[in-house]
Amino acid sequence: MESKIGNKVKKLRLSLGMSQEEFGKKLGYTSRSSINKIEKGINDISYDKLILLIKEYNIDLKSIVDDENTNISNAHDKNSNIYISFSGRAEGNCFDIAHHLMNKKDTFIPFKDISYNPCSNCNYECFKEACKYRDDEIYSLIETSLTYKNIILLVPMYCSNPSSLYFIFSERMQDFFNNNSNKWNTFLKKLKIIAIFGSEEETPLFIPTLLQLVNGDNSKILKIERHKFNLKMDDKVTENKELLNKIDSFIIN
Ligand SMILES: Cc1cc2nc3c(=O)[nH]c(=O)nc-3n(C[C@H](O)[C@H](O)[C@H](O)COP(=O)(O)O)c2cc1C
Repeated sequence: MESKIGNKVKKLRLSLGMSQEEFGKKLGYTSRSSINKIEKGINDISYDKLILLIKEYNIDLKSIVDDENTNISNAHDKNSNIYISFSGRAEGNCFDIAHHLMNKKDTFIPFKDISYNPCSNCNYECFKEACKYRDDEIYSLIETSLTYKNIILLVPMYCSNPSSLYFIFSERMQDFFNNNSNKWNTFLKKLKIIAIFGSEEETPLFIPTLLQLVNGDNSKILKIERHKFNLKMDDKVTENKELLNKIDSFIIN
């Protein structure tokens, strides 16, 4: 059974871009499972830890006691950005590009490290009421992302397509926006995509696939075409001056 406070703790942790392990350590827990149990409502958070949480993250107490739909507030600067990477690599080009652009207050989420389920073994529950995997971290990631100024997706090309992690995210939006249709325009307004791939000439369908998410708005996509700069698969994009200029000119206000 999920608890109100457990859900809020989970949303806060995600908004900070932390794993359960990192977040647990900050609060003095020795194992990841302590945070997992609090988030799932199996254990309550102790008074001492709650106070520590409030102090450490400058949290508005009212947002803790308010109803379930209120996010814990003041956890991050409202003018900061969230970068979500769909790379399978820990420190590949998606990571490098995001960290080149990020300010201190921004958040980086490697999608590979959150708990997620692809659309599978279900009966279209998301069209009817709620996705059966609502308890994983995708739903709360989308919800949390809406509290940032900009939402920047870093999407690498794998086998001529956006990576499978990107498709998992995109499929699960069905559940979120079916339940929160009033939030779609806000999400779209904040959304930008950085696409890392070979070249448009070699794979002309890659960018159109991503354009579907941003309603065909080309200005929302930064194309990093490695082959046009003679960069191989695991060469570092951020070591190429010309590409770096291109990345810098993709203004994220
Ligand atoms: C499984 C896999 C398949 C890939 N397929 C392609 C491809 O078809 N075309 C291409 O240009 N690059 C391909 N790449 C290269 C990636 O686009 C490139 O390494 C990019 O830097 C990925 O971002 P990352 O470094 O953050 O993982 C592939 C990489 C992987 C791991």
